[in-house]
Amino acid sequence: MTDTSHDRLLIIDFGSQVTQLIARRLRESNIYCEIHPYNKVDAAFIRDFTPRAVILSGGPASVLHENSPRAPQELFDMGLPILGICYGQQVMMEQLGGKVDSGDGTAEFGRAYVSPKADMPLLKGWFKGGDEQVWMSHGDHVSKLADGFKVYGTSPNAPFAITADLKRNFFAVQFHPEVHHTPNGALFYKNFTDLAGFTGDWTMGAYREDAIAKIREQVGSEKVICGLSGGVDSSVAAVLIHEAIGDQLTCVFVDTGLMRMGESDEVLKMFRGNYNIPLIHADESELFLGALDGQSDPETKRKIIGKLFIDVFEKHAKSVGGAKFLAQGTLYPDVIESVSFSGGPSVTIKSHHNVGGLPERMDMALVEPLRELFKDEVRDLGRELGLPDSFVGRHPFPGPGLAIRCPGEITRPKIEILRKADAVYMDQIRKHGLYDDIWQAFVAILPVRTVGVMGDSRTYDFACALRAVTSVDGMTADYYPFTHEFLGETATRIINEVEGINRVTYDITSKPPGTIEWE
Ligand code: XMP
Repeated sequence: MTDTSHDRLLIIDFGSQVTQLIARRLRESNIYCEIHPYNKVDAAFIRDFTPRAVILSGGPASVLHENSPRAPQELFDMGLPILGICYGQQVMMEQLGGKVDSGDGTAEFGRAYVSPKADMPLLKGWFKGGDEQVWMSHGDHVSKLADGFKVYGTSPNAPFAITADLKRNFFAVQFHPEVHHTPNGALFYKNFTDLAGFTGDWTMGAYREDAIAKIREQVGSEKVICGLSGGVDSSVAAVLIHEAIGDQLTCVFVDTGLMRMGESDEVLKMFRGNYNIPLIHADESELFLGALDGQSDPETKRKIIGKLFIDVFEKHAKSVGGAKFLAQGTLYPDVIESVSFSGGPSVTIKSHHNVGGLPERMDMALVEPLRELFKDEVRDLGRELGLPDSFVGRHPFPGPGLAIRCPGEITRPKIEILRKADAVYMDQIRKHGLYDDIWQAFVAILPVRTVGVMGDSRTYDFACALRAVTSVDGMTADYYPFTHEFLGETATRIINEVEGINRVTYDITSKPPGTIEWE
């Protein structure tokens, strides 16, 4: 369903790994936007979407290659403000009569500095301290501007770093204003949306009202079941849907046997204690652990789990008298990372269980009221709905649970060892008052045994890795800088208290290039 009650911005995605960050920067200024892949966007789509402005993202292709992606040509005659980023710039120039070249040593990757050439509205607040730091990532470059365009900023390797045709409100830049390494990039986008007349009407209060109206319209008087995992997303989705349709909603908490220590009790206590939402506790650990036993391929694990979740939900849809809808706490990054549009360059990183694993035979329709939100926005919505801070502030926990923290073969004993090690680690984090500084922390049990010595005996047990990251929305992350004392103390505790582990490592990979989970 198209929501046209807000000012809307359309991002046409050419497959850049950082397209989602454009949406993040815009959301921070309360701008409603959606990302759609270039090959799903034609002139009719744009007219139906009714955007107030359009952004063309970056992407890995070269406009010089045959059949490389383009924007619909009609877009440029619709009278809309357009901003092209990197590949988006090159597409604009190419489609509007300019020229793009490759080579000549003009590729740029990483930090660069842009010098001003002339002033214009998007540069309000820029160039105060002289040159501006920006982040470049391009092989090709614009070599001739399209008619009507002028240069407003240059960098050593990008003579056309900032260009615009102010008459038509077309802007085209070579760098990426959406990444943190362009420190004033958010302001650049804000200037663009100000110029396009956005009022910044995208707030959580407004979102809540819209979402409730949409849920009522979608569901009518039918019954809905909601998979509750205990994580923030599904909890917020459940409370929101309950506010919309009351007891037409039944929550199903599926205990997969892949939960953390004490998790099931905590979730049940929190929901039964605070909310009057009908809740089924489905203990399905035998089903899940049985199916996963011996599986080692990450995507296979995810697909098995996704399928079993649906089996369980379908069983309970019947048991509540025929639910026609299944509600899930799917987030925007889940949707985007799982999409690999045909002919498009964006690759499937992981099949998030609530998207990629869904078997096609499922005969319930999905209700996914958080589909347009990033993680931190879900937390804001949770607060808006009155969920306790202790709950809203919980670290994220993935639907597939401990299964994706057990790289290699899954066995019940390994999951049990992992659960115990994770509990010790979390206890350490809480004891040291670090829980709220860390975005997500967990242990992964590694598929390798190593030799150790305890007392006078040789041990031959599993190694584990501690993971802790800081992040805003899980899209990018840095490892958390624990002190050596903390790490030493935690390693000693895990080895002493958890039988089956004799070696502890700390994972210091950021995202990218790593992901947060190990699978
Ligand atoms: P990655 O590992 O992709 O994770 O960097 C980003 C965030 O998403 C969580 N995650 C999932 N959440 N179902 C979920 O509900 C999933 O299949 C899934 N896979 C990863 C992960 O824990 C992190 O917070």
